[in-house]
Amino acid sequence: MAELSMDDLMFRPGLMKGQRILITGGGTGLGKVMAEACLMLGAEVYICGRRGGVVEAAAKDLTDAHGGKCVGLACDIRVPEAIGEMIETIWADGGALTGLVNNAAGNFISRTEDLSPRGFDAIANIVFRGSFFVTLECGKRWLETGQHASVVSILTTWVWNGGPFTVPSAMSKAGLNVMTQSLAVEWGNRGIRFNAIAPGPFPTEGMNARLTPGSDGRGHDGADPTIPLNRNGEMRELGNLAVYLLDPGSAYVNGQTIAIDGGSHLRGGGFSRLAEWGDAEWAAARDSIRSANEKDRAQRTV
Ligand code: HXC
Ligand code: NAP
Repeated sequence: MAELSMDDLMFRPGLMKGQRILITGGGTGLGKVMAEACLMLGAEVYICGRRGGVVEAAAKDLTDAHGGKCVGLACDIRVPEAIGEMIETIWADGGALTGLVNNAAGNFISRTEDLSPRGFDAIANIVFRGSFFVTLECGKRWLETGQHASVVSILTTWVWNGGPFTVPSAMSKAGLNVMTQSLAVEWGNRGIRFNAIAPGPFPTEGMNARLTPGSDGRGHDGADPTIPLNRNGEMRELGNLAVYLLDPGSAYVNGQTIAIDGGSHLRGGGFSRLAEWGDAEWAAARDSIRSANEKDRAQRTV
């Protein structure tokens, strides 16, 4: 289902006309709502994910609701050759992208001592390597033609204070934080800006299933006095921030990571409270996460 109406957005209609944006993992959750905000403001939008049916259905949902052009592409960003083909397809379909959102991710809570090498790689290959290779494929083309562009990576606040029980994600997101700062300097003088967003809790199906398995669906921390604003984030708030960073209206903002978490990380945040869990809780969490993984895997087309 589409999520937003024009009343949710802070910007004038048509703001993003002429812009072409790729959002990885744009078929679900936060990626889908950022795709929706860009589409509603006139951008042409591409979304990708491993479940071809999911990205195609999301693209249809969004264009049925708002019109415009949104294309769903099946792509596994763990495979550099697949990224190359996807980027080639996009450039051939209507020219250079003007923006990229590195949003695709994998994550699950686990005691770090329980992780296997494959468990670590399952996350790092999507977040750390995959996001870098998508950025590189786009970046090479932008630099070659002098195209200006904005790259926004979706991180977590753990890049500042660590992520106990989500260590592969925290390490990978921290790597993208440094990529943001590094390329902001290296490519900034050629018109390519890099910024990042560090969201606090925004309940999504993917997040609930793997970070609060068995929860009531309110998501990590829910409406909770440990969050200074005592609530989860709202999708439109995230959509507005992403549009701001993608649009040339923010052209002097470069190399920044902006938290949108109600001030949560300033009070600690994260999953440190899971230190109270014993073997039984961890076994139940693992079973629940694995069944979510299996359900999603059955829908993959690449
Ligand atoms: C320990 C686990 C595990 C668990 C999987 N593994 N779940 N290890 N605890 N709970 C291990 C498996 O045992 C296996 O290792 C390895 O990981 C790979 O598992 P697969 O299921 O084969 O992986 P794959 O099919 O590649 O799926 C990747 C995935 C999956 C990352 C594991 O979760 C996924 O596709 N996620 C995409 C969506 C997602 O995660 N969304 C959440 C983003 S939310 P062995 O050695 O046994 O073979 C987010 C919010 C952060 O990031 C902030 C919140 C505030
Ligand atoms: P989500 O719905 O599970 O989104 C993850 C998306 O990534 C899915 O659409 C998934 O699609 C895609 N993806 C995963 N692996 C991929 C791969 N190898 N290739 C291509 N696409 C892949 O979860 P979400 O909550 O919206 O999370 C979106 C982003 O926000 C993530 O970066 C997450 O870390 C970040 N974040 C979320 C929260 C929150 O509270 N929700 C908080 C902080 C940060 P397929 O499975 O079809 O591939």
